[in-house]
Amino acid sequence: MTSLDGKTVLLIVGGGIAAYKTHELIRLLKTRGCSVRVIMTRAAEEFVTPLSLASLSGDKVFTALFSLTDEVEMGHIQLSRAADLLVVAPATADLMAKMAHGLADDLASTALLATDKKVLIAPAMNVRMWRHSATQRNLATLRRDGIAVVGPNDGEMACGEFGPGRMAEPAEIVDAIAGLLKPPTLPLAGKKVLITAGPTREPIDPVRFISNHSSGKQGYAIARAAVALGAETILVSGPTSLPIPPGVQMMPVETATEMLETCEGELPADIAIFAAAVADWRIAQHSDEKIKKGKGNPPTLSLTENPDILKTVATRKADRPQIVVGFAAETGNVIKHAADKLTRKGCDLIVANDVSAESGVFGGDHNKVHLVSSSGIESWPDMSKDDVAHKLMEHLTVMLLSSQEAAR
Ligand code: C5P
Repeated sequence: MTSLDGKTVLLIVGGGIAAYKTHELIRLLKTRGCSVRVIMTRAAEEFVTPLSLASLSGDKVFTALFSLTDEVEMGHIQLSRAADLLVVAPATADLMAKMAHGLADDLASTALLATDKKVLIAPAMNVRMWRHSATQRNLATLRRDGIAVVGPNDGEMACGEFGPGRMAEPAEIVDAIAGLLKPPTLPLAGKKVLITAGPTREPIDPVRFISNHSSGKQGYAIARAAVALGAETILVSGPTSLPIPPGVQMMPVETATEMLETCEGELPADIAIFAAAVADWRIAQHSDEKIKKGKGNPPTLSLTENPDILKTVATRKADRPQIVVGFAAETGNVIKHAADKLTRKGCDLIVANDVSAESGVFGGDHNKVHLVSSSGIESWPDMSKDDVAHKLMEHLTVMLLSSQEAAR
């Protein structure tokens, strides 16, 4: 049984014989920890009393639109804003018609028009009223407006007729409420995203190193966006001054060799994004002792190539991530270099950007990128690195989910 702890339902009771079932509906909602506020229409008061609903809900029942005390205590707009969901039960033919046409001539219909929250209706009426083309037209309008509907059920009616028109049972209404109030499943829940970020630092001796100006901002923003989409997010980062994004699994590294080993240790992953500015070279033989100055000529540094982490992971046979993304930071001819990189490194997508001094991308908060893949080039306008990150993660989510769908 799903808990509805901390949730508030605004229950709008319409004037029909099924109104008596709202006693049980309120009771069930309360046992699940849900607060219930009640609005009754004038007609509803003919079937149940405000006092009985107030006793069950443990709160004042609201009835009149122009009641000064109600407005002072809680205006009708606030009443619908304070709820997580509005439930109309029973939703009479008249209430449905008012909702479909946007009428607001009493508290119930005004609250329904003033809300920006999800609305669930539980229709209940005579079978002929239900089947009437006017009601069916209104129902279609309400569905188009995004109103959720539970019932009506078939059965014998209070008026002696038989057919659809009986309000859904309280337990069914509670299930529908629980379904509408449950948190949405995030699209990358259960998926693993591996991200590299920041510079690498290649030692010359214990106190000196070669590195670059990468701030790590874009990679960290991508990690935050991956967490927000529900992914298990591994951030393999060289040294930066940025705070660790909440919810990521942080793997701090220094050198390119460490970064590669750490990434390989994290496979398999669904998506791998290589946003780190990996140093292309390291010192062939770094010194374990601080190199002293003043002893003859300045030392000559002999460099050797670092492993290409992106290429190594993208060309792995058994556990290549489904989607591999690289970055191309260029100072000219951006798209051409990116397209070359796409094939040379074996990745699925290159995010290309201009990092020339005048672009202000290195260390800045903005980025203007082009997405280069086998299906073409998509150029995005200048955006904050956060916006690029969110848009990129959404793009990759669609790529991942559609390729997994196609593989099924
Ligand atoms: O070859 P270049 O450095 O321009 O390629 C950039 C892309 O390759 C980036 O995604 C970067 O993270 C990745 N890369 C890497 N390992 C390297 C060099 C670059 O993962 N040694």
